[in-house]
Amino acid sequence: MAMLEATGLSAGYGPISVLENLEIHVDEGEIVVVLGANGAGKTTTLRALSGLIGSKGRVRFGGADISRSKPDARAKLGLGHIPEGRGTFPFLSVEDNLRIGGHLLKGRRERHAFETWFELFPILAERRKQAAGSLSGGEQQMLAVARALMNRPRMLLLDEPSMGLAPMVTASLFQKIEAINKQFGTSMLIVEQNANLSLKIANRGYVLESGRVVLHGKAADLLDDDGIRRAYLGS
Ligand SMILES: Nc1ncnc2c1ncn2[C@@H]1O[C@H](COP(=O)(O)OP(=O)(O)OP(=O)(O)O)[C@@H](O)[C@H]1O
Ligand SMILES: [Mg+2]
Repeated sequence: MAMLEATGLSAGYGPISVLENLEIHVDEGEIVVVLGANGAGKTTTLRALSGLIGSKGRVRFGGADISRSKPDARAKLGLGHIPEGRGTFPFLSVEDNLRIGGHLLKGRRERHAFETWFELFPILAERRKQAAGSLSGGEQQMLAVARALMNRPRMLLLDEPSMGLAPMVTASLFQKIEAINKQFGTSMLIVEQNANLSLKIANRGYVLESGRVVLHGKAADLLDDDGIRRAYLGS
């Protein structure tokens, strides 16, 4: 069953149209990657899906029509969004960032969420009192992921989680993302320019060009595709 399904999705900024009739879906428990060059409309796609910008067309999530729902209503239904640039609060501690992510939780449920994500991200437990801004880039991205997970979303939208990270750090981040997907069944839609590592953990992928899907298929087939290799894998 489709967890998230966008049909005829069009969106832009004022008079500027960016997305044109996008058809994208993510099945329950799937990891799906959206590839595309700078300006292809990847971030705009995630914003339209989480309701941060208006759009035309239809978006269904967990069987419900959320096309006209506000971002907080979509979040409450279990659609989490980790924006480009992570969106954590640099002057607040790791713990307080997580607390804000889990603002719907109280008492025992909040403590339980802390335990769950500190177990998965031991480095965050070690640095729980440290300001988020003093963490390394990789640790900050882990914090952004853990924060989005505090409310146990059914699905996460991730905007270029590997941005600015060294390849080894990216690999370990993607391992965590895969582990979360396996352990909790969280569906993932990941926007990436770095195709190689993301396609390796993904079920399927889409390629965007100028706000349109120009190619989609199984991740393994995209990794083998000559055009994709030249454009996104540098070989
Ligand atoms: N707030 C905005 N106002 C006007 N135009 C915007 C705005 N944000 C993005 N755009 C335009 O929309 C188009 C798509 O941008 P978008 O950020 O979705 O691309 P992207 O694929 O995420 O690129 P990148 O890989 O650089 O993050 C670009 O032409 C961009 O200039
Ligand atoms: Mg972007």
